[in-house]
Amino acid sequence: MRPFLIAGNWKMNGSMKSCQELATSILSSLNSDSESVRGNEYLISPPFLYIDAISRQIEKDVVILAGKDCSASDNGAHTGDISCEMLKDVGAKSVILGHSERRQNHGETSQDVAKKAEKAAQAKMAVIICVCETLEEREAGEEFEIVRSQILTSLPSGATGQDIDIAYEPVWAIGTGKTASAEDVEAMHDFIRNILNENLDKADEMRILYGGSVKPENAKELAAVSNVGGFLIGGASLKAESFLEIGREALLGQKDK
Ligand code: PGA
Repeated sequence: MRPFLIAGNWKMNGSMKSCQELATSILSSLNSDSESVRGNEYLISPPFLYIDAISRQIEKDVVILAGKDCSASDNGAHTGDISCEMLKDVGAKSVILGHSERRQNHGETSQDVAKKAEKAAQAKMAVIICVCETLEEREAGEEFEIVRSQILTSLPSGATGQDIDIAYEPVWAIGTGKTASAEDVEAMHDFIRNILNENLDKADEMRILYGGSVKPENAKELAAVSNVGGFLIGGASLKAESFLEIGREALLGQKDK
């Protein structure tokens, strides 16, 4: 079984200096705290421009660096885009795709996500595909259908569970302080697990991450939920102590599974 993933999405926050300081704090804790913290896998996704500098800070392989998007093309006339090879060049081994902020603010569709995921797979990068529903969709009782359609359309052809993770992030819980209840998370994660099992090879190896106001106070309970294989953390990943505390709480929660 793949380890529980603690993934920090720093979004568009910080400066070169503050991001390097945050990375220094996270790395020094992970380098020294072998027992309680190392049972998980850790990933950080700094703003694109700082990945190179932070990559140079990593001495031991304790954390994976991830981009927050990639181009579906290899190179050429794509102003503002960043290719998978460029990401790899500066040390990123993973890429987050289809975050709700990209779907909403950049009109990114699930078809776009599938093309990008295919390119990332060709570049031998790990991929986290985000799926979500809005509050209106949940209130209309459409959340399962929306998530099913996003997953099936966003997965690239030939996807297996080995290099792709799914992150379920209800939009109404992102950055709002409103976490989905453990029951809501369980219902959706079990549903997603069934979709994956029905449609993919090696589906068991695909982790299903939860994201949306994860913090030290709720990490243990959420990590104990069946089919929760990791967290995608926004706000609480911007402080080393809370990011690492979530990791420790998640270890406790996994014991309750
Ligand atoms: P949040 O963000 O933890 O601040 O809610 C999660 C995300 O958008 O990845």
